[in-house]
Amino acid sequence: MIQNTIAIDGPAASGKSTAAEALAKRLDFLYFDTGVMYRAVTWAVLDQLGAVDDEDAVSQIARNIKIDVNPATVADGRPNDVLVNGRDITWEIRSAAVNAGVSPVSTYPQVRDAMTVQQRRIGVGGMVVMVGRDIGTVVMPDAEMKFFINASAEVRAQRRYKEVLERGLSERYEDILASILLRDQIDSSRTVAPLRPAADAIIIDSDHLTREEVVITLLDYWSKRDV
Ligand code: CDP
Repeated sequence: MIQNTIAIDGPAASGKSTAAEALAKRLDFLYFDTGVMYRAVTWAVLDQLGAVDDEDAVSQIARNIKIDVNPATVADGRPNDVLVNGRDITWEIRSAAVNAGVSPVSTYPQVRDAMTVQQRRIGVGGMVVMVGRDIGTVVMPDAEMKFFINASAEVRAQRRYKEVLERGLSERYEDILASILLRDQIDSSRTVAPLRPAADAIIIDSDHLTREEVVITLLDYWSKRDV
């Protein structure tokens, strides 16, 4: 077991990133969102190739990409600055095009290998809350505590819709719901590192919990763990 490591997994827009960020702040741990890496690769692929279906070309981009996640330098609601080969793409990775391409890109085994190596390097240092789809199962199977945060597709789509509106963008609720359902389906059915709870994960259904209540629940489990 790697002490002081927390793995948080769950489907799209389940609130796991927000909860993990708050948890990390409370514990003074590093917050690391692995979804950002898959999104950054997808953005670079769309930028360079215009489409995501050439697995070899996509894998090559994933092997050579330089992704930096730095403390935020702009106060526009971002948790971090995300840079790809030195360029700030913090908001670009949240676009509908990236949302549509990221799950297919994340099925490619060589893309996952390249990302997993980098994520493990961060994980072994400890004092980290790492978030994604396969953290408890593949990236940090030795994490001290594992959570799987779930919510119904409708609640998740509502939450994402609200975020989109808050950023002043216009996307239809129905489109967001459809995109979330499609991503869940691709993420859960892929052969390598599919989305699923680790056998020893604590499962949290956040449908009826506020953001704060999710964080309180996580903190409660953490403070009562066997040490
Ligand atoms: O924030 P949201 O839940 O919408 O998604 P995300 O965590 O940013 O992840 C975006 C996509 O990256 C997911 O739908 C997965 O296809 C992929 N992903 C993955 O395969 N493995 C991870 N550890 C994290 C993300």
